[in-house]
Amino acid sequence: MGRVAELAGVSVRTLHHYDRIGLVRPSARTPAGYRAYRAGDMERLREVLAYRRLGFGLREVAELVDDPSADALAHLHRLRGLLRERRDLADAMVAAIDREIAARAEGVPVTPEEQLGVLGARLYDAIGGAYPATRRTEPRIAAQIWEALGDARTVVNVGGGTGSYEPPGREVTAVEPSAVMRAQRPAGSAPCVAAAAERLPFADHAFDVAMAVSTVHHWGDPMAGLREMRRVARRVVVLTFDTDEPGWQDRFWLTRDYLPEFADLLADFPSLGGMAEAIGARAEPVPVPWDCADGLFEAYWRSPGAYLEEHVRMAMSVWTKVGPEAERRAVHGLEDDLRSGRWAERNGDLAALDAADLGLRLLVA
Ligand SMILES: C[S@@+](CC[C@H](N)C(=O)[O-])C[C@H]1O[C@@H](n2cnc3c(N)ncnc32)[C@H](O)[C@@H]1O
Repeated sequence: MGRVAELAGVSVRTLHHYDRIGLVRPSARTPAGYRAYRAGDMERLREVLAYRRLGFGLREVAELVDDPSADALAHLHRLRGLLRERRDLADAMVAAIDREIAARAEGVPVTPEEQLGVLGARLYDAIGGAYPATRRTEPRIAAQIWEALGDARTVVNVGGGTGSYEPPGREVTAVEPSAVMRAQRPAGSAPCVAAAAERLPFADHAFDVAMAVSTVHHWGDPMAGLREMRRVARRVVVLTFDTDEPGWQDRFWLTRDYLPEFADLLADFPSLGGMAEAIGARAEPVPVPWDCADGLFEAYWRSPGAYLEEHVRMAMSVWTKVGPEAERRAVHGLEDDLRSGRWAERNGDLAALDAADLGLRLLVA
């Protein structure tokens, strides 16, 4: 018990307490008759301590680890999802705090709502206000998505945001967890339900198709969300990006030369192959046109100066996720290279391209 306490970084008293209340019981005995932990007990202890660290009370932890439908892998996925949610929340709080610091420095009054907003900030509640300035329907990408919807009459758009890719002429229901994003949906757009992908409030096969555009990488548990989409619809269409084939990150000068931190974000994300398998999808490339109308992260591959604009970056979650230090360094580096002509020297060949494959993929199942 002493050795396990040392390994786990808890006191022997804590282990005794867990034993007494039946939370983690050492189920073996050493030859000398001391109680000992088997591999399964250690696994359970790890789950208990991880849920405790996430702030769950002992009774809630007991319910979680005793859940008969969850094996060790399911717990790992659940813990991972909870941690990612927490990290996104921390990122969103940092972004909200940075905005308030900047506002105070400029002497702009900060309302009580804005001050309290920092506490409950979720990523899109924090950055979503900047979204409509540059994020809108790109007709060529929309055409590819809408073609993949086939003859579907009823569509659920998961993580629908402001509704940029909701198809006309079909019965659409949007799902969007961020109040800020819901509030910015244009008048007359499809009805929108406040919910998250991981728990869709719909019956099995309620829709002909479930679609999700540029959102899966924000979900706490992407696999659970994809399974939910599969459950509620007979067809699934997802616009995401390739995490398996890193070649495009080297082709995209922004991630290659200025923002290597992007690779760390990708490392946290489930593989394209894994996602495709989860929903039984094929993947097709989605080229980004040189004059892309939707200000997504890859949009300005032929117009580098756009990345120097703060309002452009604010509508791209990548910058919040890499943090202000990396953002500042990347923007300064790009600014210098644009001024010195180094960017043009390195990327002159892009001027001849009308569209680029920068890793965007449409999963169609
Ligand atoms: C980049 S925006 C994309 C919005 C829209 N699909 C579009 O293409 O314009 C990502 C959206 O995913 C939403 N989102 C974040 N977590 C989510 C979750 N767990 N379930 C569903 N949507 C989520 C965000 O609130 C945000 O509106």
